[in-house]
Amino acid sequence: MLVLEKIADFRRERARREGTCGFVPTMGYLHEGHLALVRRAAAENDHVVVSIFVNPTQFGQNEDFGGYPRDLARDLEMLHAFPNLIVFTPTVEEIYPHGFQSYVQVEEVSQGLEGERRPTHFRGVATVVAKLFNIVQPQRAYFGQKDAQQLAVIRQMVRDLAFPLEVIGVPTVRESDGLALSSRNSYLTPEQRAAAPVLYRALCAARDRYTDGERDAEVLRAAMRAVLAAEPLAAVDYVSAADAETLRECEGAVSGAVLLSMAVRIGRARLIDNLSVGVD
Ligand code: PAF
Repeated sequence: MLVLEKIADFRRERARREGTCGFVPTMGYLHEGHLALVRRAAAENDHVVVSIFVNPTQFGQNEDFGGYPRDLARDLEMLHAFPNLIVFTPTVEEIYPHGFQSYVQVEEVSQGLEGERRPTHFRGVATVVAKLFNIVQPQRAYFGQKDAQQLAVIRQMVRDLAFPLEVIGVPTVRESDGLALSSRNSYLTPEQRAAAPVLYRALCAARDRYTDGERDAEVLRAAMRAVLAAEPLAAVDYVSAADAETLRECEGAVSGAVLLSMAVRIGRARLIDNLSVGVD
């Protein structure tokens, strides 16, 4: 495993590697969800690059950039077993040098859901991912389906700007009680952790209604809200039943693939999760 901080050093090393490159961008504080991405990248490519960079531009002013969990030594330990790995760990100055002024804005698909509550978030994500794609030059890039809107934004950006790579969405990894793995789960106290699977239970309730034949978007959203309302520690930010491709909120009867999603605050953690229904 090679750990590199500078773009110039990374490019030199990358140029020496032959065959296909699979890329897993992360903000570190790795968990099994990240390792699922790395395993998939390792299975499908000749070599793998993992980036670890807590990207300041995707955090809003009152968000948790300063407190976001970081532990590079632990991350490297978790990646140690993977052969042929380059870990790229740039500093903020390396990615955003003095005078930086170019940003990538993906328009429509960035606007609803998370984008509505975090107006500058996807501009930061698209910008850093575009820069990382330019540096890493992967043939395939791997993202978790837990961040469904992020995945949609990246797919749109890759299509629109003709990045020569394939974007691969990897299924969400869950704890045995359904809680989706996330670095932000580390913010939860034991009591809050016990409450957190309510997100998955709420999604499953709506999915079950859908499976039983319910197609009214508002009824599906109400099914999620009812489960969340029974958990006193859960403060709902939003629940949504949206078109899985455009991410526009569904009204009336749903058809085709629908993304059921939500953001819920439990203590200081803002948790997001989703399930798709109506997918072939
Ligand atoms: O999903 C994440 O961890 C981040 O949003 C990403 C894609 C690494 C960009 O900073």
